[in-house]
Amino acid sequence: MLNFDFYSPARIVFGRGTEKEIGALLKPHASKVLLHYGGGSIKKSGLYDTVTASLKKAGIAFTELGGVQPNPRLTLVHEGIALCKREGVELILAVGGGSVIDSAKAIAMGVYYDGDIWDIYESGDSVSRALPVATVLTIPAAGSEASGDTVISNEAEELKYGYSSAHLRPLLSVMNPELFFTLPKEQLGYGVADIMSHVFERYFTNTTHTDLTDGLCETVLKTVIKNAPLALANMSDYDAWSEIGFAGMVAHNGLVGMGRDEDWACHMMEHELSAIYDIAHGAGLAVLTPAWMKYVYRDNISMFVQFAVNVMGVKGSYREPEAIILEGIERLSAFFRSLGLPSTLAELGIDDSKLELMAKKATNIHFGEESPIGGLKKLFWQDALAIYRLAR
Ligand code: NZQ
Ligand code: ZN
Repeated sequence: MLNFDFYSPARIVFGRGTEKEIGALLKPHASKVLLHYGGGSIKKSGLYDTVTASLKKAGIAFTELGGVQPNPRLTLVHEGIALCKREGVELILAVGGGSVIDSAKAIAMGVYYDGDIWDIYESGDSVSRALPVATVLTIPAAGSEASGDTVISNEAEELKYGYSSAHLRPLLSVMNPELFFTLPKEQLGYGVADIMSHVFERYFTNTTHTDLTDGLCETVLKTVIKNAPLALANMSDYDAWSEIGFAGMVAHNGLVGMGRDEDWACHMMEHELSAIYDIAHGAGLAVLTPAWMKYVYRDNISMFVQFAVNVMGVKGSYREPEAIILEGIERLSAFFRSLGLPSTLAELGIDDSKLELMAKKATNIHFGEESPIGGLKKLFWQDALAIYRLAR
């Protein structure tokens, strides 16, 4: 196990009706907030009315900015920063999914940054402060409700970059699984693929003596595998959504990766797909993850056998570990397909024309010096290209 420093202060208020408490929860922290949301689902579901009524009841003034798109855009972030400065906003309340929350985090940093906030995503330089962000989560997926991460698309340059800072962990997040009932079915699949990927990126490691976090990772994965089909069969299954929601938060608040080297190659390669083709993050991950597994498993046979046996329930001859692994990967692919997820780049409408460009962008050689990605196996641009080709 490696040294680590874990601090995840985001308060999580979980359960039925909790969104009605948002005004009272924010009252000690701010008297003026920016209400930030997406393309309209919260108006359709009535959540907008619930949240604004709660803010009014608590005497919290608010200004609002809707219109966040999946793969949240830099242009709207700029607009939000100007609005917050003009209106003297003290806290940003993100009501939505990862895209809304990530946009809120970008605005929160941007308010205190003199230059273009995109510089920070490009340079990775640390920021010293940000406005506090609170969230009412409407989709279990990105884990942004408890993470210190934000991922923003610079649409003009077809770039999608992540940025992390301790200042970006939400102050508090409200999670009522009833709010997930209105999700379109394909979003369930995207969310599940993302949650599982957040675990995979930490689980598949060469670090040894990680019994506790191996077990936590496996439990999160099995919880999702058990409950996703239940939620898909009945989109109003509160208990199934509760398990998925809690799993999504734990998958990405950092805990399950403590003491281990992490990977993140699939995420880096997926961001290139989203940046150019504007696809759902989870859809890209569902396609790339099995391809990545097939490409790298020989570098750590025992880790992949453990996954196949403990998570995917494969039984086989110990003398044929590769057969066990390949069956585990096949079961994962079948699980993704059962949720309606795509399994090839072609299904996402992505042809061969930009595979090399994406492989070179993901490993940075397109911009200058190559910086290989991945922890379990270091991937250079030719490796990333081979994985994109395996996923065709
Ligand atoms: O915009 P609206 O109308 O609200 O519709 C959204 C959107 O179209 C809809 N939706 C959300 N909740 C709903 C709902 N529709 C009906 N009922 C509800 N309850 O779902 C669509 C997708 O929303 P989005 O926020 O994009 O989904 P998700 O939470 O999957 O977030 C994806 C983004 O998060 C980033 C991804 O890269 C992607 O940009 N990530 C952020 C991370 C982080 N900050 O820690 C980590 C992740 O790895 C991920 O990269
Ligand atoms: Zn993700």
